[in-house]
Amino acid sequence: MRQLIFTCLALLLMASTGHADESLDIVIYGASGKVGEHVVREALDRGHRVTAVSRKPEQIEMRHDRLSVVKGDLLDKASVTEIVSGRDVVILSVRGVIGDSGKPESALQFMAAEMLVDVLYRQEKAPRLLHVGGSGSLEIEPGIRYAAKLPKILIPRGLEVEILGQILALEFYGKVDDVKWTYVTPPKNFTNGPRTGVFRIGGSQALRDKLGRTRVSRADFAVALIDEAEQAAHLRQQISVAY
Ligand SMILES: NC(=O)c1ccc[n+]([C@@H]2O[C@H](COP(=O)([O-])OP(=O)(O)OC[C@H]3O[C@@H](n4cnc5c(N)ncnc54)[C@H](OP(=O)(O)O)[C@@H]3O)[C@@H](O)[C@H]2O)c1
Repeated sequence: MRQLIFTCLALLLMASTGHADESLDIVIYGASGKVGEHVVREALDRGHRVTAVSRKPEQIEMRHDRLSVVKGDLLDKASVTEIVSGRDVVILSVRGVIGDSGKPESALQFMAAEMLVDVLYRQEKAPRLLHVGGSGSLEIEPGIRYAAKLPKILIPRGLEVEILGQILALEFYGKVDDVKWTYVTPPKNFTNGPRTGVFRIGGSQALRDKLGRTRVSRADFAVALIDEAEQAAHLRQQISVAY
């Protein structure tokens, strides 16, 4: 009887805190970033173990008994291999352009996608990979991506390279069938709004709210990411998150 009461209490506690019954070992690249810091918090709040990766780990001030902060660079294969091996999920939420070639291949998101796939496909029990992409990759009408409608003259060259690199990364994943990836796409606008837990999951088309806006808070985007980490509901697909 006492055992039954303990079990019921444990189940009630898990339901009320939203904690996962099976905690995951999650690596987060970009943990110091504007999106990544929400993802770290969401994962910890849901009972997971988190490894936050940064080139300058001292800039991550958050402390938690289930949080490890490690130094790592996505351009360093040995470091990536060491950090991701044996984990359950790797989340990639990074930005940047390497060098000044101006080519989409120089976008960090594309380079990181290639690097992680190259590391993961060799592993027997490889972690799943959740890639935070860009809204430029979303269709705003059939066959037309948002990127194609952007007024190039108003966009800094570096940002254009990043957007093209996000699309290139998505196209690259489309050919990858030996790694469990999901390309999780933000809407056009991220807000600093609260965590509501209420949003929609779409596919490769941009989701609009009743007022025609395409937006979500970073906190809710983090909820969607950790939902996907826990449920693996959209393997080898692009999904989008928006209100
Ligand atoms: N509307 C949209 O589509 C939209 C808008 C905003 C963001 N996003 C997406 O959201 C994601 C995160 O954006 P954010 O705004 O959070 O970016 P952010 O604040 O600029 O952070 C960028 C992150 O990239 C990491 N990084 C850069 N170079 C790295 C390297 N060589 N190795 C490892 N990590 C590296 C940085 O980590 P350290 O400096 O700590 O190493 C930093 O945490 C990106 O995928 C971005 O495309 C999409």
